[in-house]
Amino acid sequence: MPDPKMPDQKKVFIKSYGCQMNVYDSDRMADALAPDGYESVDSAETADLIVLNTCHIREKAAEKVYSELGRLRLHKRQAAAEGRAVRIAVAGCVAQAEGEEIIARAPVVDMVFGPQSYHLLPEIVARANRGEKVVETEFPAEDKFDHLPQRQGARLKARGATAFLTVQEGCDKFCAFCVVPYTRGAEVSRPVARVVEEATRMAEAGVREITVLGQNVNAYHGEGPDGTGWSLARLLHRLAEVPGLDRLRYTTSHPNDMTDDLIAAHRDLGGLMPYLHLPVQSGSNAILKAMNRRHDRDAYLRLIERIRTARPDIALSGDFIVGFPGETDADFEDTLSLTSEVGYAQAYSFKYSPRPGTPASENAEQVAEEVKTERLSRLQDLLNRQQADFNRAMAGRTTDILVEKPGRHPGQLAGRSPWLQTVVVSAERSLIGSIQPVRITGAGPNSLSGELLAERPAEPAA
Ligand code: SAH
Ligand code: SF4
Ligand code: F3S
Repeated sequence: MPDPKMPDQKKVFIKSYGCQMNVYDSDRMADALAPDGYESVDSAETADLIVLNTCHIREKAAEKVYSELGRLRLHKRQAAAEGRAVRIAVAGCVAQAEGEEIIARAPVVDMVFGPQSYHLLPEIVARANRGEKVVETEFPAEDKFDHLPQRQGARLKARGATAFLTVQEGCDKFCAFCVVPYTRGAEVSRPVARVVEEATRMAEAGVREITVLGQNVNAYHGEGPDGTGWSLARLLHRLAEVPGLDRLRYTTSHPNDMTDDLIAAHRDLGGLMPYLHLPVQSGSNAILKAMNRRHDRDAYLRLIERIRTARPDIALSGDFIVGFPGETDADFEDTLSLTSEVGYAQAYSFKYSPRPGTPASENAEQVAEEVKTERLSRLQDLLNRQQADFNRAMAGRTTDILVEKPGRHPGQLAGRSPWLQTVVVSAERSLIGSIQPVRITGAGPNSLSGELLAERPAEPAA
């Protein structure tokens, strides 16, 4: 007999297109829908509700959603012919930026809601299920994070050994190229108690490593139990006390918010992994100024020096944009020379993409596409060489890895080194979720291979 108190079982498929916070949001949407009987599935095929969690950061990312909607139109029609109603939602940063235009362009869409509306999700879906077209892109008056946890109860979507946890959202920096301040809104930090509560639940569910997220995570200033604003460093020290959490990371940071206490945490806090993603975007002072980054090349290089003094083995990662309006050959050479001076272990680099509503998109000195392509390939050659060198230097060394998941081939498992490198080992599946010492036996450009040293028990006593 079906339990009359239990909601009908329905299936939801949520697809992420964006950054880590976008991925985290997808999990939170799944959590928010679970009490209404929505089970998460891995493909659109059988889903009653399909959510595209979109990204607006570059044109390519934003356009992907429209090609997917084209495919979904046929899917929805086919399902209707079989007597099944499928609802389609566009969430995330494209939803926030384009709102009802999305429904005008793709009438297959039933719901459009931005990242600041996820606490309204159950209500939005209920309205759409009654046949309404719903558009929600208002920024809430209060902290949206306050709403979700109560509904979630003890349920958390299974996340494996590693998880993201948003502690700060939004951005007040307004870099001239970037849509994030418009799609995510003003900077908001979650209170320490809420972050610790969520981290504790994650650890109880088997998570061993948390990456604390924010668009400007190092500008974190959430309210502490003592009523004062806590820095990110203080929050990380507190999270390190959560039983079962062995590793901490954070991303993404702005150079201007790298405070002394955060740099010191890289020296003092053993659980804080020796890896830092610190985007610089350009090595040219003129371009940094035009980008409104509010620091110059020297300030960035001096900062890197201080971080390396605190934690000499730290792996540095960055983001770069080539072909920002007005970028000359000499400006681009400055980016190459800064890259050579820093020596990155890993990095992301992009061609500048003009985004509607941002100041740089109106700049008359747009750089030609061929020039951007050529610069990107030169920069990526250099960054790839640096990454390969960094990996090669690991050969023969021993290190701990957190074993995360099965590898590509049978009998293999994949884990992560403290420096965020993927390490492939041959081992029993039961070791997934444990930290194991390995010797690095091979180093490729994108991953390492290793062999287990003396095995540690897979399930250490909590
Ligand atoms: N909050 C983070 C990152 C935001 S977006 C930060 O401040 O660093 C991630 C990266 O996308 C940026 O660091 C930047 O390198 C890139 N990006 C943002 N807007 C872009 C645009 N209009 N064109 C190309 N790349 C862009
Ligand atoms: Fe975008 Fe700049 Fe804010 Fe980062 S700091 S999210 S690049 S505006
Ligand atoms: Fe994309 Fe929005 Fe993240 S624009 S990068 S999904 S904050």
